[in-house]
Amino acid sequence: MRAEHADAPSAPPVAGGPGRGLFVTFEGGDGVGKTTQAALLEEWLTQQGRTVVRTREPGGTEVGVLIRDIVLHHRGEVSPRAEALLYAADRAHHIDTLVRPALARGEIVIQDRYLDSSVAYQGAGRVLGSDEVRRLSLWATQGLLPDVTVLLDLDPAAARTRLDADDKPFDRLEAEKEHFHARVRDEFLSLAAAEPVRYLVLDAARPPAELAAAVRGRVEPLLA
Ligand code: TYD
Repeated sequence: MRAEHADAPSAPPVAGGPGRGLFVTFEGGDGVGKTTQAALLEEWLTQQGRTVVRTREPGGTEVGVLIRDIVLHHRGEVSPRAEALLYAADRAHHIDTLVRPALARGEIVIQDRYLDSSVAYQGAGRVLGSDEVRRLSLWATQGLLPDVTVLLDLDPAAARTRLDADDKPFDRLEAEKEHFHARVRDEFLSLAAAEPVRYLVLDAARPPAELAAAVRGRVEPLLA
């Protein structure tokens, strides 16, 4: 089921043995509705009697909350490589202390953003290079890849209209220019095209209930 990336060292064995749970991630640009879809999937799985851990990056742990504050809200400059390392540090701690233990207990982890976000935002958006950034995340996580990644795809201009309607101040990444977000979107689409088995790509302009049904359709066969 879940792939461990071949280039990465394999993780030390965890209690209960790896591979029993299910790891589902949601990806996409800012304002595409990931949080809504993650919540709807959690609700449905919980109704099925499943134990779900819903989490996010950055900021899924106490350490992560501190890192999230730096990467999203620091007022001065954060150099692109420092930014990539901060996301990777958040991820390393999160996967080690929260996600792998939950998977080892046989639980379902639903996660808002994972390594594909680093490849898209730092690799393509900040132009650090997709392969290098991917390798950094795989090192940080000892090669853990999701079973399913749902990409909610939306034109950045439409996503920006949604964010404007929210009336919240933009964080450092959201405040980036349109061409940055265009690069992020293109990279997500290339990642999905390269890994069609892991990815489910959905048009995020569709009604939330339809999207939720499509996500359930992809996850349900994996629950057996
Ligand atoms: P997110 O929590 O989805 O934002 P919000 O809660 O405000 O909707 O993500 C925070 C930002 O961090 C988002 O702009 C994407 C960015 N990000 C990266 O640049 N690299 C990463 O590896 C991750 C996980 C997020």
